[in-house]
Amino acid sequence: MTQLVALSGSLRRESFNTALANAFAELAPAGVSVEVFTPAGVPLYDADLEAAEGLPEAVEVLKERIMSADGMILVTPEYNQGVPGVLKNTVDWLSRPPADIKRVFGDRPLALCGASAGRGGSRAAQYAWLPTLRALGVRLWNGGQLYLPAAGELMGDDGRLVDNDMRERVEGFVRGFAEFSGHG
Ligand code: FNR
Repeated sequence: MTQLVALSGSLRRESFNTALANAFAELAPAGVSVEVFTPAGVPLYDADLEAAEGLPEAVEVLKERIMSADGMILVTPEYNQGVPGVLKNTVDWLSRPPADIKRVFGDRPLALCGASAGRGGSRAAQYAWLPTLRALGVRLWNGGQLYLPAAGELMGDDGRLVDNDMRERVEGFVRGFAEFSGHG
């Protein structure tokens, strides 16, 4: 079994990015599971809070799930052509303490993708993630690219990804990344 974690960077109930993360879970090939997370429950990073109480529960849980997964999919919204603070904040918490960075991110297969309301489909945000991912030492999968432009038009009334062409691309993306992550 290949286990993947998909982290959507949005708290919005009808988030396009969470819909994309859910589509990975739905369309993953046999033998591949995708567990979906959002930044829900993750407070703003505060070094005083960390010193007093350690990592928040939501961060501990996510760290554990990433460490036991074969690979991670970062599903990023785009805010002002950059990374959304909510997701960057979560990744920053996940990088604490620095002694754990290698266990959480080091050499971990990571796929980058995203959805946005605009025509770029999160392209600018995905590029903006690259310095951070490099700093964390992940093994970035470059075997596929996935952008969901005008994402609202790809979703059904129930908020699921329904566009057939995009569903095929999502299926190919998760298949390729699962293979890269080791077991396929
Ligand atoms: C946006 N949005 C946006 N979209 C885009 O394609 N390029 C952009 O630069 C921005 N900038 C931006 C800034 C801020 C502050 C907000 C709140 C929104 C629109 C964005 O794509 C849209 O809100 C999506 O719905 C966000 O993703 P979720 O929450 O649906 O996953």
